[in-house]
Amino acid sequence: MASEKTFYLETFGCQMNVHDSEKVVGTLISQGYRQVESVEEAGLVLYNTCSIRDKAEQKVFHRLTDFRKLERQGKKFGVLGCVAQQEGQKIFERAPHVSLVCGSASYRNLPQMLVQLEAGKRAAGLDDRQTTETFETEFTARTNPHRGYITIIEGCDKFCAFCVVPYTRGRERSRTSDAILAEACQMADSGYTEVQLLGQNVNSYHDPLGKKSFSELLAAVGEVEGLKRVRFTTSHPIDFTRDIVDAIDSVPALCDHVHLPVQSGSTRVLEAMQREYTCEDYLQRISWIKTARRQISITTDIIVGFPGETEAEFEETLSLLDQVGYDGTFSFKYSPRPSTPAQAMADSVPETEKARRLAILQEHQKQIQARLSRGYVGQTLEVMVEGKNTARGQLIGRTSQNKTLNFTVTAGNPQPVPGSYVRVHVTASFPNSLLGEMVG
Ligand code: 5AD
Ligand code: SF4
Repeated sequence: MASEKTFYLETFGCQMNVHDSEKVVGTLISQGYRQVESVEEAGLVLYNTCSIRDKAEQKVFHRLTDFRKLERQGKKFGVLGCVAQQEGQKIFERAPHVSLVCGSASYRNLPQMLVQLEAGKRAAGLDDRQTTETFETEFTARTNPHRGYITIIEGCDKFCAFCVVPYTRGRERSRTSDAILAEACQMADSGYTEVQLLGQNVNSYHDPLGKKSFSELLAAVGEVEGLKRVRFTTSHPIDFTRDIVDAIDSVPALCDHVHLPVQSGSTRVLEAMQREYTCEDYLQRISWIKTARRQISITTDIIVGFPGETEAEFEETLSLLDQVGYDGTFSFKYSPRPSTPAQAMADSVPETEKARRLAILQEHQKQIQARLSRGYVGQTLEVMVEGKNTARGQLIGRTSQNKTLNFTVTAGNPQPVPGSYVRVHVTASFPNSLLGEMVG
């Protein structure tokens, strides 16, 4: 047992990080490691970190400092992901007990780095951000047996003024459509019915084989036998083309949902953010989505308090919310990030004002969602069963539009199992979820 190789991995941040961790776990297992549930049991402790907002790196250093004394027990520590890439070799100085620092563009070199660690050396994977290679692994350890992610593109070339991602994840590099389709077929064969195509900007997917555009890839994945639901995230408005909506219209498995981050409703602020589109350009994309044959739900990301954002510009964002009628928003206070162009701008909106704008925006959006949700009462929708809320005696379902629809089953009827698809009659609505009763 003494020589058994064990690891503990904690993940912070976005879906890309969650899926990267599934690949890292699979890679470690293929190298003879066993995953354990606590730091105490582990020989190797890994953090897959996020630096998109706030002082995420501080969180990681606090974690590492807390566990410093464990080094004497022979444990090794590694920092992966965006903070690893952002802080680089400085991590070894600030936390000398760390022996692995690796950004996401270098994960394909993890097996060699593990060998170095085992030989008692330090290993760093920080120099691959210009690579054209993606992290191809057959060892992805997916955590959900019904719904899984597939990376289609890594990195980002957009360089929005506020965003650290192009610096931490490196240049855009797409996987081949053949590799993506093979993975989708393999997942369908192993019983998956839902896949989500992932990338920092999936719309700029560029098939290295030159065979498929993004919308063609989407349609092809949607036609894989056995897959009932295909989602994709995240989209950039400038690369969001009409043929994506046409694909959704013509391929039944493509879900009725588009996440299209707008960031601001003011064209002046969008320009300062280097988003490359105006508010009118964005609304044109929205009109394509709204005129689709299916009712497609729309969600977005918004930043309040970007440097120089005036009260009037903030109000333009509020009126954009009214115009679009979003089904959901993820909204954030602007937070300066190292290496980004916006970091050099004066962070002119005080923290209290950012907080005020965020609260106003979130309340405004809650009213919109409450109104939109009411429109579903009386409809019958198909859900994928995700689990149970035992305390409430309800099952948790998700609709094609990505809405949570909790439901009950009439007494005497069998309870559907997670991963199955059932029809639910909607009886009540809330801003963030729907409630209903299973049909049949
Ligand atoms: N400050 C606040 N929010 C940010 N986001 C990205 N960078 C920042 C930042 N520096 C938000 C954007 C993006 C989402 C993933 O995170 O809205 O779409
Ligand atoms: Fe960041 Fe902009 Fe790239 Fe999205 S598109 S990851 S916001 S730089």
